[in-house]
Amino acid sequence: MSRRPFPLGYVRDDLADFTGYSSARTSAPAGAVAPAAAASGEQGVPVEQGAPVDLAWLNANEAATPNRADAGASVRRYPDPQPAALRGRLAGLWGVATDELLVTRGSDEGIDLLVRACCAPGGATRGDASGPAAGAARGGVVVAPPTFGMYAVTARLHGAAVHAVPQLVEPAEGPGGGERWRVDVDAVLRTARQQQADLVLLPSPGNPTGQGVPVEDLVRLAEGLRRDEAPALLVVDEAYADFTDAPSAATLLATHENVVVLRTLSKAHGLAGARIGAVLARAELVALLGRVQAPYPLAVPAVQLALAATEPAALEDTADRVRRTLAERDRVTTALRDLAGRPGSGIEAVLVAEANFVTLRCTDPGSVLDALEEQGVVARALATHPGLADGVRVTLGTPEQDDRVLRALGAHPPAHRPPTGRPTRTTPEETP
Ligand SMILES: Cc1ncc(COP(=O)(O)O)c(C=O)c1O
Repeated sequence: MSRRPFPLGYVRDDLADFTGYSSARTSAPAGAVAPAAAASGEQGVPVEQGAPVDLAWLNANEAATPNRADAGASVRRYPDPQPAALRGRLAGLWGVATDELLVTRGSDEGIDLLVRACCAPGGATRGDASGPAAGAARGGVVVAPPTFGMYAVTARLHGAAVHAVPQLVEPAEGPGGGERWRVDVDAVLRTARQQQADLVLLPSPGNPTGQGVPVEDLVRLAEGLRRDEAPALLVVDEAYADFTDAPSAATLLATHENVVVLRTLSKAHGLAGARIGAVLARAELVALLGRVQAPYPLAVPAVQLALAATEPAALEDTADRVRRTLAERDRVTTALRDLAGRPGSGIEAVLVAEANFVTLRCTDPGSVLDALEEQGVVARALATHPGLADGVRVTLGTPEQDDRVLRALGAHPPAHRPPTGRPTRTTPEETP
């Protein structure tokens, strides 16, 4: 392992002493609580010893009075870059210490921060493993298609090389068949080593496969990537983790310094429009990513919504929403499996589903999408996903919407039963 203190060796050398932008909030006078974070709101509360002083906060070029649209005068000021209340709430929810969590604008921003902090910009221009300068490419990201498209998009925008190591697919064991995808751990490690990759990005459960990476594979990857020369971070994107019982990769943070986990409120918590996610990592890496982040990333209304959405009663609702989704997942999967392979059904396989969607392999995906559209259902074609180009991904909806999906595909919708009390990992007490 590199002798340099963590996270050096994993991040760009030129960022070693990077302090980031010093904003009006981060450079407030010692002991003063900046107005955006102050309980009393407008003026801020000086907390220095001695008599309170009424501070006039004139250091951020904000408007002197609120906009008439801002009835509560909550957005006249720039926001707190990392509101302590939300950071603490999400850290409790996802089982890490507060300084091991950075709140981000969805997991998309987490991916962006990691790519910018770890990959040398323009690295891709030095050649590509398959291009004329084969073997010259150094650094970049390793992805395992079929996978979430934003990893490659983010890397390409940054000029970093993208090394694709296809997943392996095999028939699923157990009743109902289907198919199971597996990350090719040996091939990922080999590619990461050869290309001196900076990041390995894996969703678990995956999108569009809907299937998780077993924890023993994550451990092998993390250990293989933490080597003496050219170490790499293993980024486990857990956008859909609320829909599985598998332990979070955050449990590996204590033993594996190069593990990074992404979480989000966009899926199970029903807050996709608020854009709230988080990077969970060792505190030193979190601090560095915070310096790479934009000065005021989190809008005040989004923070308020996220706090309200993680109150105990709202977490109960979320656990219930997850239970309902899982009941629908069982119901839809069973009905479609009955159909799969029958002559004329157009459905060849229904993948093992561990997220909030089902993925179908179809004889003719276009006609399946047309049939769904005739019932007013908009699903997602997977034509651009190598290995799953004949796939169609359908998000689980309400029982009524799912019945429309089943009828469109020629299945007889089984009776909908209210969900049983199946446990989920959504509430803090249940989070490992
Ligand atoms: C695997 C995966 N990661 C991340 C995201 C983006 O999530 P967020 O809304 O938190 O940016 C998605 C969105 O569909 C996803 O499928």
